[in-house]
Amino acid sequence: MKDRIKEAVASGAIQHMAFIMDGNGRWATRQGKSRNEGHKKGAKVFEEVAEYCHNIGIHHVTVYAFSTENWRRPEDEVSALMRLLSSYLDTAIKRFREKQIRVVFLGDKSVFPKKLIAKMEKLETITKDHTDILNIAFNYGGRDEIVHACREVIASGEEISEETISKHLYTAASPDPDLIVRTAGEMRLSNFLLWQAAYAEFYYTDTLWPDMNAEEIDKACAAFLLRKRNFGALPEEAKLN
Ligand code: FPP
Repeated sequence: MKDRIKEAVASGAIQHMAFIMDGNGRWATRQGKSRNEGHKKGAKVFEEVAEYCHNIGIHHVTVYAFSTENWRRPEDEVSALMRLLSSYLDTAIKRFREKQIRVVFLGDKSVFPKKLIAKMEKLETITKDHTDILNIAFNYGGRDEIVHACREVIASGEEISEETISKHLYTAASPDPDLIVRTAGEMRLSNFLLWQAAYAEFYYTDTLWPDMNAEEIDKACAAFLLRKRNFGALPEEAKLN
C-alpha cells in the first residue's frame, strides 16, 4: 500500500468497509472444482481480508456471507455453507480473542440449529468488549432487518424516527459503511445494508471473491480516497459538518 493511502486509512478515512463476497461458484467452475470448494476457498479469503482490513486500521468490517434469499439454493450447497460456518466457529474464539476483534452476527439466528446458535452467541459474548468489529451477515436481508428494527422500536414504546430505527438495526454497534465493495463484476446491492448504504461509496471489481487479496483492497481504498463525499450538501458545507 502506498504510504499516502496507508496514512489516510490509518488515520480513520475509512471507518467501515463492507464486502459482498461474490464469485465463489464461478471461481470453482474455472478451476474444475465443485461450488462447495469455491465457498471453502471463499471462507479462507474472508478471514484473510478481515484480518488485513483490521491491520490497516479499518475498525468496522462487514461481510455478506448468507442472505435471506440464499435458502433458495440447492440443499447440498446450503448445508455446505452451514457446515463451513460451524467449523469456522470452532476455531474463531481463540483467533478473535488474540486479535481483539468483536464479532457480531447480522440477521435472524433463530432459524439455525440450537447448537449453531449457541456457538454464534458464545463468540459474540466472549468478544463483546473489543472495539474493532467484524459483522458477519448470515441469514441476513436488508428489508428483513428494517422490518425487525421497526418492530423492536414499536415494542419498546419509542417513536419511529431515523435515530430509533438505526439504534435497533443489527449493525447498531457500527457506523454506516463508508465503502461497499462487490466482487465478480456484479453491480447490485442484493438486499445488503439497504438502510445503512444511504451515503456509502460503491466499488466494483471483476476479481472473483476467492482471488481477493491485499492488493485489491488497497485499490478499493485508493479509489475511495479520490471520491468527493458531500452527503447531500454543497462541497463547502459538507466540509463544515
Ligand atoms: C456468492 O457467490 C457467495 C455466497 C452466497 C457465499 C459467500 C460465503 C463465503 C465467502 C464463505 C463465508 C464463510 C463463513 C465461515 C462466514 P456465488 O456462489 O453466488 O458465486 P457465483 O455467482 O460465481 O456462482
